[in-house]
Amino acid sequence: PILLVRQIDELRRHVAAWKADGLRVGLVPTMGALHEGHASLVRLAQKDADRVIVSLFVNPKQFNDRTDLANYPRTEDTDRELVTELGAHMLYAPATEELYPSGFATSIVVEGPAIPLEGAHRPGHFAGVATVVCKLFNQVRPHSAVFGEKDFQQLAVLRRMVRDLDMDVEIIGAPTVREKDGLALSSRNSRLSADDRRKASALYRAMTNAVDAIEGGADIAGTLNRTQAAILEDGFEKIDYLALVGAEDLQPMDERDRDGRLVGAAFLGGVRLIDNLTVKGP
Ligand code: PAJ
Repeated sequence: PILLVRQIDELRRHVAAWKADGLRVGLVPTMGALHEGHASLVRLAQKDADRVIVSLFVNPKQFNDRTDLANYPRTEDTDRELVTELGAHMLYAPATEELYPSGFATSIVVEGPAIPLEGAHRPGHFAGVATVVCKLFNQVRPHSAVFGEKDFQQLAVLRRMVRDLDMDVEIIGAPTVREKDGLALSSRNSRLSADDRRKASALYRAMTNAVDAIEGGADIAGTLNRTQAAILEDGFEKIDYLALVGAEDLQPMDERDRDGRLVGAAFLGGVRLIDNLTVKGP
């Protein structure tokens, strides 16, 4: 049976024993409500490492919206069954007080790639992410850690943090897993009504059309405007952003002069969905 660990000292004892045996340790950080997207990360970690730890922690510091935190799905029992089936070696599920003891006063603030897009719309979000991931890295000291391209900016921010702070961990990016209709799997999808679930793939469809247009040489600003209109037409009530940014620097691109990423965030029935797609350079 899979190890279920809630405390840092117990976690460290297991990891120390594995490392003493010369085993490579991989970490897959999650906030639970696990789905096939998370499963793909675990499988990728298993290719890289001999022992895979899945962490499950709904990190209060990265929620800029209290109701989003309160409504975040919590399904630890089924999460544990899934990671057991996948053959991971440990589910590390610490309590909030274990990670944030009273008096906790430190924060990792990444600038650069953390400033635009999600950073501009969710104040404090990436500081919360970077702080908890830094803590997880210090607790586990993994050889590698896997993150999804679903959260493309998060992946860029964490790569930046690791380089800037000389953390000795290899960051592995994993492709986005989608439903049949193209909707990117997300723990938040379970909060969509049946009707909104049918509408939700419009974000992916509109963004795919925009990528085709831009790669075909269409005007970028005009394409982004038409795509926003299409997303609203298809039932989304609000768009936080839809932008073409550099795949490396995340800075807005007004010409297709390098590899890019089309990134978008929009609300459907009060649920905030994000997606991103590759845009090939010239
Ligand atoms: P969470 O949203 O649970 O996602 C955990 C990991 O799964 C992230 O690396 C995310 O990018 C990846 N993921 C989610 N949906 C995916 C999909 N459809 N395809 C591929 N990968 C997917 O991201 C977080 O948690 C947190 O911010 C965390 C990094 C754990 C820090 O708290």
